[in-house]
Amino acid sequence: MFQQVFPAIFLFASSILASAQAPSAPGKPLPPGPAQAKVKAACTQCHNTSRITEQHLTRQQWSGELKKMEGLGAVISDADRDAFLNYLSKNFGPEKGVAKPAAKKSGSAAD
Ligand code: HEC
Repeated sequence: MFQQVFPAIFLFASSILASAQAPSAPGKPLPPGPAQAKVKAACTQCHNTSRITEQHLTRQQWSGELKKMEGLGAVISDADRDAFLNYLSKNFGPEKGVAKPAAKKSGSAAD
């Protein structure tokens, strides 16, 4: 029983680690900003920056993401949390245009 289950668990665990732990692949560079260096240090230990740069999250969603990462083992000091959230939601916030319907012109005389 154990001999049948163990290899499966091992394969499963190592595939998760392989997909999460790829700091050797550089990923997309993080845009400059006051928290850039700290975010890079805290957030690229287990995965590269692409995990971050491909997101378009609100500040609240980023807050949840930081909590999730802490649950996985990331270390974010309380003093840095605000700066992280500012940086992440500014650079990787909801896509421009999508979340701002007010900016769209609605049927003006130009039509
Ligand atoms: C201890 C390892 C570790 C650290 C440190 C870490 N992450 Fe992650 N991160 C993971 C793992 C593992 C996943 C994949 C989780 C999944 O698939 O559910 C992940 C996935 C993500 C994702 C993709 C969305 C998701 O929830 O799966 C984002 C965004 C992310 N991390 C952001 C960050 C940020 C920002 C930091 C720095 C504050 C950070 N990570 C630090 C382990 C870590």
